[in-house]
Amino acid sequence: MTDTSVDGCGGRSVVVTGATGGIGAATAVRLAGLGWDVIGTARSQAKADVLVAAAAGEGLTLRTVVLDVADPVSCQEVMARIEEMTSGGVWAVVNNAGVPQAGSVEDVSDEQARHLLEVNLLGAMRICRLALPGMRRRGGGRIVNVSSGLGRVPWPLGGWYSASKHALSAITHCLRVETAHAGVRVSLVEPGAFATAMLDRAVTDLNNTDPAGDRAGYDRSRTLFTAVNQRVPGPEPVAKVIATALSARRPKARYTVGLDARFLIPLHTMTPLWLSDRIKHAVTGLPRTAPAAPTTAVEVAA
Ligand SMILES: NC(=O)c1ccc[n+]([C@@H]2O[C@H](COP(=O)([O-])OP(=O)(O)OC[C@H]3O[C@@H](n4cnc5c(N)ncnc54)[C@H](OP(=O)(O)O)[C@@H]3O)[C@@H](O)[C@H]2O)c1
Repeated sequence: MTDTSVDGCGGRSVVVTGATGGIGAATAVRLAGLGWDVIGTARSQAKADVLVAAAAGEGLTLRTVVLDVADPVSCQEVMARIEEMTSGGVWAVVNNAGVPQAGSVEDVSDEQARHLLEVNLLGAMRICRLALPGMRRRGGGRIVNVSSGLGRVPWPLGGWYSASKHALSAITHCLRVETAHAGVRVSLVEPGAFATAMLDRAVTDLNNTDPAGDRAGYDRSRTLFTAVNQRVPGPEPVAKVIATALSARRPKARYTVGLDARFLIPLHTMTPLWLSDRIKHAVTGLPRTAPAAPTTAVEVAA
């Protein structure tokens, strides 16, 4: 029986990946409060225990599993276990686990780029692949993939991260069409900046890099990321939108969350590339031109 045209959750099961902090923790707790049977994933039992305690502090219960989405074996084993925990598999998946990778395109190594893509892209798709057979058997389900405003506004010194989220957006839009006939509804959530550990981690990436090119852009970006993280709201608005995408009768294909993302994405779409480049140079402090060559004594004499 197809079971997707319902509001609310009726105790349905949902997996939230990366539920140990930021948007994932806020989502797991919110969904538990709304009556969902939440299974939050953590990378260690200690972090899972902290999540359970945080929920308990609000009088809520949720279940946890230890999962590394970058590890195919871990994904397979854990999703099989979840199938047993939920008598046939989850009704919904929130692919929230993600990592940043700040640094210029040339400063990010193959190894770092591979890890980023494993977590932000392949990991999310792996979880979808493992959850879909159960959704098909049941005749319906929901998938929410957490992308980023930077998936549509490529940002210098965040090029690899933007690329990973751009790819996640593209594949999510294909998945939605491919699985619609099975009653599976797929949504993309594009948050702007929200105060979580993510921006701190991006600053750490910049601190740990010895730039091959311009250093001023790194200094400016460090200051910018830190200032943004201090001014933006916490992750609850994103959690609220994810809950809406999971329970709406007709979920939207895409939800953009946050004033910055809602303003910058259309602006970027309308702005010619030459102007967009100039704005990015101005904001990041990355120089547009090579420094003038020092004047030599010969030139002065001539
Ligand atoms: N915060 C923002 O401004 C913002 C904006 C746009 C999009 N997003 C997206 O929102 C999502 C959540 O990020 P956040 O801001 O809440 O950051 P966060 O607080 O750093 O949370 C990221 C979560 O992903 C988990 N994770 C990392 N690598 C993993 C792996 N290999 N396997 C399983 N879980 C893993 C982390 O676990 P550990 O605690 O073990 O590291 C953590 O629970 C990400 O996809 C991010 O790209 C965030």
